[in-house]
Amino acid sequence: MQNTDKVNRTGFYSSSSSMGSFSYFLVFVFCLVPSVVCQVQEFISIDCGGTNNYDDPSTGLAWTRDAGIMSDGESVEVKIPNGDLLQYRRRRDFPIDSKKYCYNLSTEERRRYLVRATFQYGNLENEETYPKFQLYLDATKWSTVAVVDPLRVYVKEMIIRAPSNSIDVCLCCATTGSPFISTVELRPLNLSMYATDFEDNFYLKVAARVNFGATSKDAIRYPDDPYDRIWESDLDRRQNYLVDVAPGTQRINTSRNIDIRTREYPPVKVMQTAVVGTKGRLTYRLDLEDFPANARAYAYFAEIEDLGVNETRKFKMQQPYIPDYSNAVVNVAENANGSYTLYEPSYMNVTLDFVLSFSFVKTRDSTRGPLLNAMEISKYVQIGSKTNMQDVIALNALRSMPAESVWTNEKGDPCVPTHWEWVNCSSTTPPRITKIALSGKNVKGNIPPELKNMDGLTELWMDGNSLTGPIPDLSNLINLKIVHVENNRLTGPLPPYLGSLPNLQELYIQNNTFSGKVPPTLLTGKIIFSYEDNPRLHKGKQMTHFKLILGTSLGILVILLVLLLASLLLLRNVQRKKSYQKSDDRGTHPSKFSLICFLSHCTTSVYPVLLCPSGSLHINTKPSTAYSIARGGHLMDEGIAYYITLSELEEATQNFSKKIGKGSFGPVYYGKMKDGKEVAVKIMADLSSHGTKQFVTEIALLSRIHHRTLVSLIGYCEEEEQCILVYEYMHNGTLRDHIHDSVNHKRLDWLARLFIAEDAAKGLEYLHTGCNPSIIHRDVKTSNILLDINMRAKLSDFGLSRQAEEDLTHISSVARGTVGYLDPEYYASQQLTEKSDVYSFGVVLLELISGRKPISMEDYGADWSIVHWARSLIRKGDVMSVIDSSLAGNVKIESIWRIAEIAIQCVEQHGVSRPRMQEIILAIQDAIKIEKGSQGNENKSSRSGSSKWQPAHPTLLTKFLEIESPDLSNGCLLPSAR
Ligand SMILES: *[C@@H]1O[C@H](CO)[C@@H](O)[C@H](O)[C@H]1NC(C)=O
Ligand SMILES: *[C@@H]1O[C@H](CO)[C@@H](O)[C@H](O)[C@H]1NC(C)=O
Ligand SMILES: *[C@@H]1O[C@H](CO)[C@@H](O)[C@H](O)[C@H]1NC(C)=O
Repeated sequence: MQNTDKVNRTGFYSSSSSMGSFSYFLVFVFCLVPSVVCQVQEFISIDCGGTNNYDDPSTGLAWTRDAGIMSDGESVEVKIPNGDLLQYRRRRDFPIDSKKYCYNLSTEERRRYLVRATFQYGNLENEETYPKFQLYLDATKWSTVAVVDPLRVYVKEMIIRAPSNSIDVCLCCATTGSPFISTVELRPLNLSMYATDFEDNFYLKVAARVNFGATSKDAIRYPDDPYDRIWESDLDRRQNYLVDVAPGTQRINTSRNIDIRTREYPPVKVMQTAVVGTKGRLTYRLDLEDFPANARAYAYFAEIEDLGVNETRKFKMQQPYIPDYSNAVVNVAENANGSYTLYEPSYMNVTLDFVLSFSFVKTRDSTRGPLLNAMEISKYVQIGSKTNMQDVIALNALRSMPAESVWTNEKGDPCVPTHWEWVNCSSTTPPRITKIALSGKNVKGNIPPELKNMDGLTELWMDGNSLTGPIPDLSNLINLKIVHVENNRLTGPLPPYLGSLPNLQELYIQNNTFSGKVPPTLLTGKIIFSYEDNPRLHKGKQMTHFKLILGTSLGILVILLVLLLASLLLLRNVQRKKSYQKSDDRGTHPSKFSLICFLSHCTTSVYPVLLCPSGSLHINTKPSTAYSIARGGHLMDEGIAYYITLSELEEATQNFSKKIGKGSFGPVYYGKMKDGKEVAVKIMADLSSHGTKQFVTEIALLSRIHHRTLVSLIGYCEEEEQCILVYEYMHNGTLRDHIHDSVNHKRLDWLARLFIAEDAAKGLEYLHTGCNPSIIHRDVKTSNILLDINMRAKLSDFGLSRQAEEDLTHISSVARGTVGYLDPEYYASQQLTEKSDVYSFGVVLLELISGRKPISMEDYGADWSIVHWARSLIRKGDVMSVIDSSLAGNVKIESIWRIAEIAIQCVEQHGVSRPRMQEIILAIQDAIKIEKGSQGNENKSSRSGSSKWQPAHPTLLTKFLEIESPDLSNGCLLPSAR
């Protein structure tokens, strides 16, 4: 009671006037742009047990009934529903049994979502036995739903990165009452909202999301929050159990717009209110369901009071004491770069107790007390292991066999949390199917061949159906103990391996139409074998049908044909080899590097290893496969590197007088050919060791590859123990020079950097996907990105490249590349993939954003790497601290964010989590669009307050918001989030 007095001290805006000026603004903006407004939305809002579809008048959300998607259970009227919310008028009750009941929601793989399930029981009778049951998301245990107060709406929320193209929300395992549900809701998130370091293995279960200083007891959600998170009011004590409020706590609010574009995009309306500790201290205590646990925690601060010139607001978190964080002084306006701007520090992984007491205390030199606008705490929930994929594929094949009547409609994972009625599962991780029980289900057709991968299977019961066709290959199922396929119409011979399945104890095949001979191993008596009523099955050893004979002779014929073909190919190969050696006659230099013709096309899979000793060139073809020879027919006479004599080069370079750089293996000189063409001449210094081989690899690769974004090879020379490569000259040098050694003091602007990134990304993408087999660059770095006279970029230095042929990916003996760019996974495992280039490219992107070097003790301290430094800042939402100071102020922050987000994905620890080059190109192109949008707007230079929200072209951010913003199409009156 004491607390309530205090919180009422400050005046509130009436709830209607403060009602989301921000969202009305958005509505206004989008109504002006018809193509943007009337879009089908991605929200899924299911009213479980509902009788019709409708739009919720209070939120504008479109609710759909679940009748079409849920056939189990029954719709039940709720006696005392929650207020006048239509979605709580009815609920769906499920049978009390051992099954699970699932809602399947489609998702976009790897996109992040907020998944919400709500439960309001609403009946006061049976108070001894209010329902208590389990809630699962796929195979992940989400929550125990235990109704204590039947009038309360229990809300369960999980933030996930979608593991595949759909998820299942499942109820099961009631201990009292029957499982029921009121709503299921799916809300897509954007940018890097709620990304964590642990999302490969953990979901985030929301434990608290509190709006401090709220102006009423009502929670804030859609449309004030375009992502429809539910921000509970700190006045709603029942929901939060927020207690222990410090004396002197006041509630403040503002109607000014708040810039919330940091990372989690909390709604402006939530940020417009806060609590302040006027006596120097803010304290709260709340309960966290299912804690102690490890959590992700966010605090949202925005200065919404106008401080005097000499006033400051500085404070520290005192409790819970977290080293690093508790010592840090928060100075909201300074950290956020201004008042009315969000500052969002967060704790990636903090261990919290069930009872969370926290306090913020002002520092001595601060004139104002601490402030808090909102906070969120989510528990890390380990993602549960789904049933083995091969087993699931086989079960789905079984389920789709034709049948006389529907015999199963069970959904979700076959084993977790409860197994389907007709299977048994092992308790291993991942679970395996151990038993299939399909006796007498009236199924027809062939037994699916997919069964052959279910090697955990011990019992197979398919008797008493109308199965036809042969027994599929079960030879891998070495754990099989019991097989019942009797009383069907199966045909074909009995496969001999049946007798040698090591664990087989029972085999029942009677009353079928099997034919042929019974394998003698089945008749030894070790196996219980029942095979009567198979009129065409013989126990004796007479040779069966002519089919078999025909089969055998066909087989022999095929073998003969293969032999004939093979010898023909061999012959052709030998001749081919000879002709190469002939053309490789030294004495006079061939005017064309004719050997290259053999390699000249990316589609060939023949990759001879060339050797380049001082004397002559040899060619070694790997043993060719029939495939590669067939493809050899496509070889084309393109991509030819010309031979250039040493004297010509000496003349062109004026005796190698103008050195312009240093490549991986030696110096690079400027030259001008007789025809006026400017060239870069690269000398391979160390011929004795790897140099020669590198030289030849480079010629071979470069001659095969032609792309606008790759530096092209003009010619080569090898003479007097020197290997020399001649490239097109790139007037503007390396990207490295332009971002780190700003020689001409004119740093690249952001758009120029984006174009360069786009070119380089396209070059890499071409190497990865345009060639077959694909090529891994292996040394992507800013000094290998060269700029032409128009400042467009090309990738160079394929000296370390190597084809990503399967058999080649594992054999490199040492990890090669450049420190600071080297993929740690590749370094550790020696397994080279395209994703190693992606890692290095991520480092390049971080350099472009920050203007900093990849490694530096000075800049990054003990971590010394740009990756660690940038990752921790970006994950804290602090992209401002990462931006190159020469860019700051002249860029659109969303554009930077787009690149920052993709860069952080590129440098993920594990290759599988990194994006492909294609995705990276799309992100860069997005960023270019955003940045160009801002340029078009530049003359309207008074970009303050809400005008920031009105770009000339829809930016990515507005595109995101439009997805979740109210659709006022058709005269802008129909709400539309569906
Ligand atoms: C969080 O930190 C704890 C303790 O350092 C660690 O055991 C845990 O694996 C981390 N991550 C998660 C998601 O809990
Ligand atoms: C700010 O402080 C200085 C010295 O501490 C004082 O002279 C000045 O009057 C103060 N200004 C205001 C606006 O309070
Ligand atoms: C043989 O199998 C069929 C189904 O294919 C069944 O209808 C019939 O009753 C079975 N006969 C015996 C003797 O079990």
